[in-house]
Amino acid sequence: MIELEDVAFGYGGSVLMTGIALALAPGSFQFLTGPSGAGKTTLLRLCSMHLRPTAGTARVFGRDAATMTRDEVAAARRRIGVVHQDCRFLDHLPVADNVALPLLVAGRSRQAADRDVAELLAWVGLAGQAGALPPALSGGERQRAALARAVVTSPDVILADEPTGNLDWEMSLRLLQLLVQLNRLGKAVLVATHDLNLIRAAKGQVAARVLRLSGGRIQQAGAEL
Ligand SMILES: Nc1ncnc2c1ncn2[C@@H]1O[C@H](COP(=O)(O)OP(=O)(O)O)[C@@H](O)[C@H]1O
Ligand SMILES: [Mg+2]
Repeated sequence: MIELEDVAFGYGGSVLMTGIALALAPGSFQFLTGPSGAGKTTLLRLCSMHLRPTAGTARVFGRDAATMTRDEVAAARRRIGVVHQDCRFLDHLPVADNVALPLLVAGRSRQAADRDVAELLAWVGLAGQAGALPPALSGGERQRAALARAVVTSPDVILADEPTGNLDWEMSLRLLQLLVQLNRLGKAVLVATHDLNLIRAAKGQVAARVLRLSGGRIQQAGAEL
């Protein structure tokens, strides 16, 4: 669904990565690991078309991103759910409204949105916090709310950037389980993380590939995990 072919990228004329090949196929689960500053977040932003390759091709849902109009990019982005590490919410709106926002923006009726949001909040274990304001949530609750918001439009691809970065181990596992469940529904999942314990924990649950980004190159990580 998203393919990077021989992609290079750098900020402001420098070269951060070259020869990048990546394929997010339906039903695939992949980890992207590598040292801080290697370019994991940048790679995710290339997948979501927030950044354009300086060379090579980003193919998104069968289309070369470079040839897509703004409207086409916007439509394609609705099929991509992104979970950021520093999940930003509108702090004056209750959790349920924050999660509903992408649906309302996409034109869904308030009533239909409320139904979906209630179901989704129950799934991530936040039914009781629907009316709470985001600042009142714990770190783990925020991260699960961010996941709910990322998947509320039922995207085909989920890009999670260090989703467990601020979480304790138990909550990290809970979030991992939610991502695995989404993957079992056929969604392509890419998780950037430097938490090797999380990757090990996933091994029993899902056939995950592990990619490592370092020195501007991407490799499939081997049995050392
Ligand atoms: N908007 C930007 N402008 C210039 N340099 C950036 C920008 N974003 C990230 N970088 C640099 O690109 C490199 C990769 O960053 P990033 O993709 O965030 O890596 P990672 O997520 O693996 O830690 C870092 O050296 C970072 O400082
Ligand atoms: Mg990062």
